[in-house]
Amino acid sequence: MSDPKIIVALDYSDAQLALELVARLEPTLCRLKVGIELFTTAKSRLIEQLMQRGFEVFLDLKFHDIPNTTAQACKAAAELGVWMVNVHALGGRKMMEAAREAMSLYTQSPKLIAVTLLTSMAQEDLTDLGIEATPADMVLRLARLARDSGLDGVVCSAREAALLRQHCGRKFCLVTPGIRSADAVADDQSRIMTPRAALNQGADYLVIGRPITRAVDPLQALQSFVKQIAEVE
Ligand code: C5P
Repeated sequence: MSDPKIIVALDYSDAQLALELVARLEPTLCRLKVGIELFTTAKSRLIEQLMQRGFEVFLDLKFHDIPNTTAQACKAAAELGVWMVNVHALGGRKMMEAAREAMSLYTQSPKLIAVTLLTSMAQEDLTDLGIEATPADMVLRLARLARDSGLDGVVCSAREAALLRQHCGRKFCLVTPGIRSADAVADDQSRIMTPRAALNQGADYLVIGRPITRAVDPLQALQSFVKQIAEVE
């Protein structure tokens, strides 16, 4: 089976808009990411519709609750049959271990990854929380904690990928947003990287939203990214 490296971020406010875009994409070339806004309006029916169209889904709901509740939420995601699901590493070791344990009951369990520190969190936000470490130290610390708790990987900036690859091992799955072609606009992303550079830094999967979803021809934009990636392999 093919293992598309691109995960298209479906950052839409409702299912209809998402499905219109998806009708113009190809499941052999990409997977799809559904986040909290779309999931809250479209509910799990949309996930089923995307899977019926042949796409694998990353359910990006960033669970963060007590261990039992998080584990039950992960089970619900596994029941839906999604390809990947995530939790906040800040939920701690016990929470992540409970999530891991819940997933192990499934023969085809989703990949379970963690969000380390949100990239919107700057030093002063950590200080507000009483955390003295730098954001970079926190990312590494939380990634290691995720790995030690049995998780499959983390979402991280491509700029962190090489360091995390070095510290967390070859098999640890690194999913990186903030990807743009060399000649593209950055939108509101402050730190971007080309697909080729991100893969060279050790990323496994690339989350790409607006460069594909807002393209005049989304399939052509997707194919262009696939071509750029093929040049790395
Ligand atoms: O449109 P764009 O390619 O910037 O979308 C990137 C996607 O990755 C969005 O869904 C965004 O929420 C997500 N993301 C991100 N930065 C992070 C974590 C997630 O851009 N640190």
